[in-house]
Amino acid sequence: MNEPLLVFREIEKSFSGSQILCGVDLSLYPGKCILLSGKNGVGKTTLLKIIAGLEIPDLAKIEISGKTNCWKKAVRSVRKEIIYLHQHPIMFSSTVESNVAYGLRFTSLNRKQRRESVEEALEWTGLTDVAKKQAKTLSGGVQQRVAFTRAWILKPKVLLLDEPMANMDHESREQTYQLLVRMKLAGMSLVITSHFMQYFEGIVDQHFQLKNGALELKSKS
Ligand SMILES: Nc1ncnc2c1ncn2[C@@H]1O[C@H](COP(=O)(O)OP(=O)(O)OP(=O)(O)O)[C@@H](O)[C@H]1O
Ligand SMILES: [Mg+2]
Repeated sequence: MNEPLLVFREIEKSFSGSQILCGVDLSLYPGKCILLSGKNGVGKTTLLKIIAGLEIPDLAKIEISGKTNCWKKAVRSVRKEIIYLHQHPIMFSSTVESNVAYGLRFTSLNRKQRRESVEEALEWTGLTDVAKKQAKTLSGGVQQRVAFTRAWILKPKVLLLDEPMANMDHESREQTYQLLVRMKLAGMSLVITSHFMQYFEGIVDQHFQLKNGALELKSKS
């Protein structure tokens, strides 16, 4: 494998005295996909949120370009590169295109560039036809694709997907799978949590099971 983008080491996390993560190490590589499985409540979401910088660990270190720092010191630069996608993405009360454009408000793109960027992204995810629709009125599967588009447009280096295909029908799953393939080909590092390994066959490079606070390597391609 190439050089890792980011290496997380010795992640520890407890809630109310109960230790959920006991020294988890995880390396993220460009264009590679990691699948995380494990029983309900084992700590998969907690781990993703710590990686995304959304949950504070008790302990953790992050290595970037060979330099290791404590989580607190490194997390600001990590947050810029990583997007966490919730299982049930929250849609703003506006059109699909406004939802997709949201993150671009914080970039240096001008109005014309933002419009072009939104058009391209909607085309990329096959959502051009629903661009003017109110996002909240769409089905769960389509909302999930809006959330993918909202993430894709910001070109994160790492995309963390929490149960991205739960409650999806076969067609939505297939469309989501194709988007994941293209994200991977574009060089994004993907980390997916799921109870359904079979949905991700073909794109997963490493499969870890989270058990008793540690990651167990189940398979590697
Ligand atoms: N903010 C919090 N405060 C207290 N306990 C929490 C908090 N967040 C998570 N937990 C607990 O930590 C444990 C791990 O939760 P987490 O949501 O990470 O599990 P999970 O593996 O994602 O589960 P699932 O498969 O149901 O999504 C659970 O026992 C949960 O109740
Ligand atoms: Mg979870």
